[in-house]
Amino acid sequence: MSVQQTYAKMHAKLHDIVPDFELRYKAELADEINRLKKERNAVILGHNYMEPALFHSIPDFVGDSLELSRKAAQTDKDIIVFCGVRFMAETAKILNPSKTVLLPAAKAGCSLAESITAEDVRQLKARFPGVPVVTYVNTYAAVKAESDICCTSSNAVAVVESLHTDTVIFLPDEYLARNVARETGKHIIFPSLMPASVLAGPQPNFIREIDLAKTVDLQFIGWHGRCEVHEKFTPEDIANIRQDFPDVVVLAHPECSPEVVAAADFSGSTTAMTRYVERTAAPRYLLLTECAMGENIAAANPDKEMLRLCSVRCPHMNEITMEDTLDALRYTRYVITVPEEIRVKAARAVERMIAIG
Ligand code: 13P
Ligand code: SF4
Repeated sequence: MSVQQTYAKMHAKLHDIVPDFELRYKAELADEINRLKKERNAVILGHNYMEPALFHSIPDFVGDSLELSRKAAQTDKDIIVFCGVRFMAETAKILNPSKTVLLPAAKAGCSLAESITAEDVRQLKARFPGVPVVTYVNTYAAVKAESDICCTSSNAVAVVESLHTDTVIFLPDEYLARNVARETGKHIIFPSLMPASVLAGPQPNFIREIDLAKTVDLQFIGWHGRCEVHEKFTPEDIANIRQDFPDVVVLAHPECSPEVVAAADFSGSTTAMTRYVERTAAPRYLLLTECAMGENIAAANPDKEMLRLCSVRCPHMNEITMEDTLDALRYTRYVITVPEEIRVKAARAVERMIAIG
């Protein structure tokens, strides 16, 4: 495809979203990225949060965390370029030890992944022996390696139900845990919200009092991690927007607080929200998630009106640019590595999740 054809394709989708001078510049970048991608036998995976010009030009596959994990597991290419954040690229490496996995920006982290360490998980397992550990994929490999099974926002309920157990340790997102606990009818406790001094000492009374064998109520044992983006949305935001636009349909990612999810009309993974908009016919929609997604949906569905709440952005996802993606392919950077003993254990938890339909 020539630069002109790339530009024409991008223009058809993005002319209402991206200014023309930017489109022309990004079409040149996209053309070079796509040429190098072929030359280097690479695949590009793009998360739904990527900015519109990138999202609609260079990925071979776009999607939510679960869909991209599946694609990463299936690819026969030599190089996987992950336009997403580090934990996603790490998951691709966990599933493809012999392939080169590249993350275009070295700093693309995630507040949830930073919120918990492998040692934290080992301590929880020691406190609650025999209780299965379900870990959100938004964690680093060493944490996954300590877990029984991973989950994403799109399959968390199915993963918990697949365990057929009364009690689970669900890490590290406090809000996702609360939302899933509510959906699966479980009560939730947060030993991690105890002060560090108490945690380091003898077991706090209230934990000792929980005799898991005798507990009649179903239990979720949570952690205090939060997504720095989704925790910012409030029920007041929804009330304000409904006052201005009474016919708006509000969609909230399950990393939002349970109060926000309760005030929204729909909650689901990034792809579940996209599908919801595609399959319904509301006068207008508001997504409570990274702002780029609303633009990506608007570009693909020009008949839909998307309201924007763009004061809330994910700084990590926004680290990924087309310029850096080009350099990733040019200079083979930044290479993701996972120590083999950790990778093998983490792969068990990720593969067990992927096996759930
Ligand atoms: P999804 O799995 O829904 O794409 O979520 C990933 C994420 O990081 C949301 O903030
Ligand atoms: Fe992590 Fe939140 Fe950014 Fe998703 S939006 S990558 S959970 S910080």
